[in-house]
Amino acid sequence: MDTMGVGIIGCGMISGNHFHALSKLSHVSLRAVCDIDEEKLEKAAKEQHAQGYTSWRELIARSDIDSVHICVPHYLHAEIAIAALGAGKHVLCEKPMGVSLAEAQAMEAAARDAGKTLTVCFQNRYNGASQRMKEVIEEGTLGKLLGGSAFVAWNRAEPYYVNSPWRGRWETEGGSVLINQAIHTLDLLRFLAGDLKLAACTMSAKRLAETIETEDTCDMLLQGPDGERYLFYASNCGVSNLPVQMHLTFEKGEMHLHGALLTIKGPEGTVTEDYTTALAVGKDYWGSGHGPFIEDFYRRLLAGDPPYITPADGRETTRLMEEAYTQAMTVRRRPT
Ligand SMILES: NC(=O)c1ccc[n+]([C@@H]2O[C@H](COP(=O)([O-])OP(=O)(O)OC[C@H]3O[C@@H](n4cnc5c(N)ncnc54)[C@H](O)[C@@H]3O)[C@@H](O)[C@H]2O)c1
Repeated sequence: MDTMGVGIIGCGMISGNHFHALSKLSHVSLRAVCDIDEEKLEKAAKEQHAQGYTSWRELIARSDIDSVHICVPHYLHAEIAIAALGAGKHVLCEKPMGVSLAEAQAMEAAARDAGKTLTVCFQNRYNGASQRMKEVIEEGTLGKLLGGSAFVAWNRAEPYYVNSPWRGRWETEGGSVLINQAIHTLDLLRFLAGDLKLAACTMSAKRLAETIETEDTCDMLLQGPDGERYLFYASNCGVSNLPVQMHLTFEKGEMHLHGALLTIKGPEGTVTEDYTTALAVGKDYWGSGHGPFIEDFYRRLLAGDPPYITPADGRETTRLMEEAYTQAMTVRRRPT
């Protein structure tokens, strides 16, 4: 079997998860890394035994690179993905799939035109608990899904934004808590509940208004394909990074996710299953999904199969977010 050559563009916080996942794979060889920050680039090139580039255009021009991982700020995802696909590379893009629906659609079209694979890093779909929830829904033992709720309370303080100034800016991050942190939970809800429509949304900056121009808190009312009702709340104003919670209510039972703990209540009784896995690298709130996601991406590529997370998945999550950012209401006040 041939070895696939890989390049990673962006050697910041998340790149370690990609380096670690690739180091476990045979038939895949990390050949090049890129960053405009020379210190980060030098460190990554040395540690990964890869050629370093300050220009991603030079990296994607290499003929022995078959795929690239895009790990740069959000506003660069579409430009780099479209150029890389056009240069004949497969692309694994960190979330989000662009900062707008138009960008996501352009990325999808570029993959189609090039006949190359494009996927988006929604690694939480690979969590044991996520897979189990999907299985229970598909088995239908709990009956019809009626609706539910999702809750993300994390903590992102000033240094997080000051140290990476692309964050907290509409132009470069495209938003904050929704597009960066809660995007995983929104995508997971779509994965489980089917296509969702936005009914209403409120966004605000409750704690970081002096630091960021974007939102640190977002709540939404969403509607499932048959009118199911979902409440979604996300904030970066938490004291710590609480486990993500999701509750799904069915005709004949319910499922409650608390981090990696899944409680299923059905006609046969209640069981709690623990899907905790040891964290190999990175922050605990990123989970351990990068490994299985990246492994599966290459397994499918080498087998000639389409990716598990398709461009359409990325595009539809971006569509929902764009609607939320466009329609977000300001908070109502009681007249004094
Ligand atoms: N899947 C997850 O759970 C997860 C978690 C964290 C971050 N992310 C995503 O990963 C991406 C990067 O986030 P991060 O936290 O690592 O950010 P970061 O700021 O730590 O790193 C970004 C890196 O990109 C580099 N860069 C900027 N412009 C560049 C250019 N033109 N060419 C090459 N390199 C350039 C920066 O110098 C920096 O080193 C974002 O899309 C983010 O949303 C995903």
